[in-house]
Amino acid sequence: MGRLDGKVALVTGSGRGIGHALALKLADEGARLVINDLDAEPANETVALLKSRGNEAVTCVGSVSAPDFAERFIKTAVDHYKGIDIIVNNAGYTWDGVIQKMTDEQWYAILDVHMTAPFRILRAAYPVISAAAKQEAADGLEVFRKVVNISSGSGINGNAGQANYSAAKAGVIGLTKALSKEWGRLKVNVNCVAFGLINTRLTAADASSGATVDIEGKKLRVGMNPDLLKSHAQRCPLGRAGTVDEAAGAIYMYCTPDSDYITGEVVRVGGGA
Ligand SMILES: NC(=O)c1ccc[n+]([C@@H]2O[C@H](COP(=O)([O-])OP(=O)(O)OC[C@H]3O[C@@H](n4cnc5c(N)ncnc54)[C@H](O)[C@@H]3O)[C@@H](O)[C@H]2O)c1
Repeated sequence: MGRLDGKVALVTGSGRGIGHALALKLADEGARLVINDLDAEPANETVALLKSRGNEAVTCVGSVSAPDFAERFIKTAVDHYKGIDIIVNNAGYTWDGVIQKMTDEQWYAILDVHMTAPFRILRAAYPVISAAAKQEAADGLEVFRKVVNISSGSGINGNAGQANYSAAKAGVIGLTKALSKEWGRLKVNVNCVAFGLINTRLTAADASSGATVDIEGKKLRVGMNPDLLKSHAQRCPLGRAGTVDEAAGAIYMYCTPDSDYITGEVVRVGGGA
């Protein structure tokens, strides 16, 4: 028996990194997954891996920023599994620059992926969740559903060179808090996990190596300055960056019945930094 047997979980950006680790963890506990990624290859590989482990999974490939994405994502879950239990808004990337050099495109791209996309996905999920919650209430059942939005220390403290990302990650905290108040009556726990430094392709490379990721045709620089990494390790009580499994573990807590009486919260997962 898994703790999430039969639950339907939708995770954006789950082809790689934290989302990928989370998808495996949810599936290990019996959840049925809708895997999304901008890139088809890692999304399809994740589904193939899950199926090879005996789990149920389906892909919904594409950018969460596309105007029609949210409806398609929710429809994929409903068509395949007839419902929704867990939504994790995880997809994202950074496109840094100091404010005097930041373009409108750069600003809106980051707001779209981290803030507007979660808003649209949750709006599109409302009719499905509301209908299920009303039926369960009529049947005298209390069934909890879970929304976890992913934020960042940048959204709480701000970060130089990340006006767009800091604003978007602060915005998703506001979205979380407002929705926790709207959806309490539907028995949906809406929480937010704000990461510090987690080792993924966004942070692992040496920034001076010129490492980039390809996001919708744009080559965006990623990585960390080694001196910054060293000073982070010195300032961080736990002394290092987190792993994707540790990051996924924190999200997972908010997807299980252990969080049934927690809503509207932001938990920092940064090794105490
Ligand atoms: N790694 C960190 O240190 C860190 C810190 C704070 C917050 N976060 C947040 O955690 C989340 C996951 O990041 P990660 O570190 O695992 O990165 P990652 O690059 O390893 O994985 C993110 C995945 O999201 C996908 N993605 C990006 N834009 C997308 C879009 N528009 N539509 C659909 N998929 C898209 C990517 O293709 C990638 O597979 C992001 O929201 C990120 O901002 C990460």
